[in-house]
Amino acid sequence: MESLSAPAHRGCVPRQGLLLAASLLTFWSLPTTAQLTIESVPPNAAEGKDVLLRVHNLPRNLMGYMWYKGEIVGGDLQIVSYVIDTQTTSLGPAYSHRETIYPNGSLLFQKVTLQDTGYYTLQAVDKDFRSKRVTGQIRVYQPVGKPSIRASNATVTEHKDAVVLTCLTNDMGISFRWLFKNQILPHKDRMKLSQGNSILTIDPVRREDTGGYQCEIFNPISSSKSDPLELDVQYDPTLPSPGISDGAIAGIVIGVLAGVALIAALVYFLYFRKTGGASDQRDLTEHKPPASNHSQDHSDNSPNKIHEVTYSLLGFSGQESKKPTSASPSPTGTEPVYAEIKK
Ligand SMILES: *[C@@H]1O[C@H](CO)[C@@H](O)[C@H](O)[C@H]1NC(C)=O
Ligand SMILES: *[C@@H]1O[C@H](CO)[C@@H](O)[C@H](O)[C@H]1NC(C)=O
Repeated sequence: MESLSAPAHRGCVPRQGLLLAASLLTFWSLPTTAQLTIESVPPNAAEGKDVLLRVHNLPRNLMGYMWYKGEIVGGDLQIVSYVIDTQTTSLGPAYSHRETIYPNGSLLFQKVTLQDTGYYTLQAVDKDFRSKRVTGQIRVYQPVGKPSIRASNATVTEHKDAVVLTCLTNDMGISFRWLFKNQILPHKDRMKLSQGNSILTIDPVRREDTGGYQCEIFNPISSSKSDPLELDVQYDPTLPSPGISDGAIAGIVIGVLAGVALIAALVYFLYFRKTGGASDQRDLTEHKPPASNHSQDHSDNSPNKIHEVTYSLLGFSGQESKKPTSASPSPTGTEPVYAEIKK
């Protein structure tokens, strides 16, 4: 049976898969040529689905197989046995009416339950009554239920309060993550996750923390999100939202503004001085060769260029990286300038 089924399977490998299959074979062939193994298909099963314990690398010259529930071999634990020559199946005390043994030794479980989770042992006996044993595992999971969020306080005051969000669930063996405004919550220094990510502490809260929070739980076969919890952060609108990072951003913006202003002044100066200053222009055209063809345009466009510099400067202070599209048609010394600032 084994020798019949194996070539049939190989024949089915699609051409595109051959290369991958070849690399997998070289990877697997060393440790497994002689080693009997069991693979659970799928490795993690949802309750109610079917699971196949697939047997690989059976020894030759076999007489039959026995399957046992658990990691040890014992009469009471026998699920089923199979004699290859006579194709006879015998049921054991641990048979649950949902198992089917195939001639190649694989064991199918139908409609698995949580109680099926655990180890299963195959004993393969050859015609000289030598036996080999291998243990495999089935993992069955229930889909997770919908979690909910408990907040220490859904209305909090900026800089004054902390907020603790707890993800509530009855499911076990799950992972947690947090979503803010439908996105994975970006981590901030003010945030701390604890109890296996099930508790989110924000201390202190800031106005930008206002919005919907959800927790999501998942296991190998499913996931579920809580309803959003709306956190309302009260703040004094006359006060700017301070903090080190904001200060740093302000500093950077001011620095950039100063730099841009300086360069804008320089560009302005160069264009208005440019009556025949070939050496001055080389600096500007270095980054943008086509500019040399438009030397006539330069004088016409110079007010536009100044305008463009100002525009990109505004784009910066708004912290948006999008380039000014409306200004782009004018052919230009300012783009390289903009690129230099970005670095
Ligand atoms: C054994 O037979 C079953 C049923 O035909 C099949 O699903 C399974 O893939 C086979 N196992 C191997 C290792 O070929
Ligand atoms: C929740 O926070 C608000 C604003 O800081 C405060 O007035 C209120 O007393 C807090 N409620 C609880 C239950 O802590």
